[in-house]
Amino acid sequence: EYPEYVKIVEVGPRDGLQNEKEMVPTGVKIQLIDMLSETGLPVIEATSFVSSKTTEGKPASPSSQLFPRPGDVLRVLRHDGEQLALFLYELLMADHTEVLQAIHRSSHVRYPVLTPNMHGFQDAVAAGATEVAVFGSASETFSRKNINCSIDESILRFEEVICTAKQRQIPVRGYVSCALGCPYEGPIESTKVAEVVKRLYELGCYEVSLGDTIGVGTPGSMAKMLHSVMKEVPSSALAVHCHDTYGQALANILTALQMGICTVDSSVAGLGGCPYAQGASGNVSTEDVLYMLHGMGIKTGVDLSKVIEAGDFICKALNRKTNSKVAQARGDY
Ligand code: HMG
Ligand code: MG
Repeated sequence: EYPEYVKIVEVGPRDGLQNEKEMVPTGVKIQLIDMLSETGLPVIEATSFVSSKTTEGKPASPSSQLFPRPGDVLRVLRHDGEQLALFLYELLMADHTEVLQAIHRSSHVRYPVLTPNMHGFQDAVAAGATEVAVFGSASETFSRKNINCSIDESILRFEEVICTAKQRQIPVRGYVSCALGCPYEGPIESTKVAEVVKRLYELGCYEVSLGDTIGVGTPGSMAKMLHSVMKEVPSSALAVHCHDTYGQALANILTALQMGICTVDSSVAGLGGCPYAQGASGNVSTEDVLYMLHGMGIKTGVDLSKVIEAGDFICKALNRKTNSKVAQARGDY
């Protein structure tokens, strides 16, 4: 039994571009989002409001002559600590306000942005965000490395964001990273994932996206994890967010659909990667997900050809090859 309709949440402009090795010009980001807005996609995650400062309030590295360009930061990062990853994220997303204000918003599309705390939330609202997403983790270590606090502390921060958002009628989406494995802790208990998902849902996230952050899951671990999570939260309030590092993303998504999930996160051209995990690739490509779903007779409302065009645009702009098999098969535009 598959759903008749699947909602695609396009995360390429955020999850994809946050991991680029080179600086992406703001105009390119804006054009990408504008092209995606014309494809029929219902949700496009536009950018994020994050910080690279350390707890001591010192910048992680920006003034150092060692790191003149973000690409260099990423190369150093491979041998060094995670603070540099934060620096890179912030640098790549530093134009968040400009992006959010310049895009041509379609009335049919929602444009959530990532906000890890109140600071990010307030900046996002000031920039005109009408939907936000908080992002937690099922792994303690990943939580500390990614947002510099424990899972419990993160829930307190999210509670404040969600309460304030509610007063302003701003919907909040939730993410739980490391749902199928952590780059530091390895496999994560599915009961732990379920616990964190439940907490976010009960705080008021209208939907919680289950992140296979480093793409290590299989249909087996996906089914086990979903089984636990769906005991706590209805499938209608869940999404899957698969990275394709081990080539399992489509199989994992199919498994989730079979279990009643009908929201799928994906990234145009399969943009992205994860600086925390060597060899980690981007999110499953939107083109490949659409091809599979449409082939199964499942509606998405999205025009595959137009997404391929947007993917072609961003790949040319970044001077790289698409990660989408479907786009590769369809050839050049
Ligand atoms: P922190 O250093 O603990 O923050 O960082 P703090 O509250 O101690 O504040 C330190 C300084 O940063 C202060 O400045 C704050 O004002 C400032 P000072 O007073 O010293 O001048 N600050 C901020 N500035 C701008 N924007 C903000 C902000 N917050 C504080 N939002 C923090 C904690 C959460 C901010 C940081 O760790 C962070 O931004 N982390 C995000 C890292 C990130 O972007 N990760 C990638 C996205 S998650 C992901 O990709 C996974 C996902 O795709 C799902 C999956 O695949 O699993 C979603
Ligand atoms: Mg991700």
